[in-house]
Amino acid sequence: MTGNPRAARIHQVDDRRPGNELLGDVLAGLARTPKQLPSKYFYDARGSRLFERICEQPEYYPTRTELAIMRAHIDGIAAALGPGVRLVEYGSGCGLKTQMLLGRLEAPVAYVPVEISRSALAASVAGLERRFPAIEMLPVCADFTQPIKLPRAARAPRQTVVYFPGSTLGNFDPDDALRLLRQMRAEAGQGGGVLPGGVLIGVDLVKDTAALEAAYNDAAGVTAEFTLNLLTRVNRELGADFDLGTFRHRARWRPLAGRIETHIVSQREQIVHVAGRGFRFAAGEAMLVEYSCKYTLEGFARLAARAGFKVAGVWTDPARRFSVQWLACN
Ligand code: AVI
Repeated sequence: MTGNPRAARIHQVDDRRPGNELLGDVLAGLARTPKQLPSKYFYDARGSRLFERICEQPEYYPTRTELAIMRAHIDGIAAALGPGVRLVEYGSGCGLKTQMLLGRLEAPVAYVPVEISRSALAASVAGLERRFPAIEMLPVCADFTQPIKLPRAARAPRQTVVYFPGSTLGNFDPDDALRLLRQMRAEAGQGGGVLPGGVLIGVDLVKDTAALEAAYNDAAGVTAEFTLNLLTRVNRELGADFDLGTFRHRARWRPLAGRIETHIVSQREQIVHVAGRGFRFAAGEAMLVEYSCKYTLEGFARLAARAGFKVAGVWTDPARRFSVQWLACN
């Protein structure tokens, strides 16, 4: 017999759209005015490695600030969530924050990570089940942005908590962020617990323009490499002919919208071919590739209320750069 007999079986939810989703999204995005490509395609193997390097850059404060908040307040966070939690995580939780949470929660009944990358999911669960043998592991390979039926725990939980760290909600436009929060509300409410449950979420906060723009334009150029890797991916996977030397990364804070907008800007007039179709770029034309929305505490409370939550706990760092929030179902 090969492999670990105790290894948790991965539930595969096939919710992907038929056909080549990347091709459809790229053709549609390049045909739009202004052009726009979804940021979810940043995360191929190289993009995921580059994102890890971004997290280590001195200007990129969110990762280390969120971790520091978790370290400083893990007891209060675990007390707020209470015993018997079925913990659902959107994204794979190989990180320290998940380990900290699972290690400090009182008798959690199950851990349900939902992750699109099967290899990332398998690696993270293998580590966690060695460390936490008493917690039922129920990994699900699926796109968490789509409504999915998640597995129930063998033991009845007291409540289901959806964990969504990393300020990933900020990468969704306001309508999609609300839709995703409502989906989490439904998941927490129907998770089979005696309490209605809630969401533990990392939320990045509005701060001065210089700090925000530095975080998305690091001096070492890792974020620029990460952004432009999207074009490398489209060239490789769709046979496109983006000339990498003629596009630049640009990230700017938009105070009225409350977000960093990242664009890829064409340095000259040119035609790019994808799947036999030509797309004209003017010199200086900017293609939107990412939003990173930042919130005030009041603004986020309003958004949470529209999704059916009340903010029942907020933990921040002393400089109030980032927050970890406990949203209880109303
Ligand atoms: C994953 N996400 C929360 C990151 C962010 O800060 O918006 C992605 C990122 N993009 C550029 N730098 C980091």
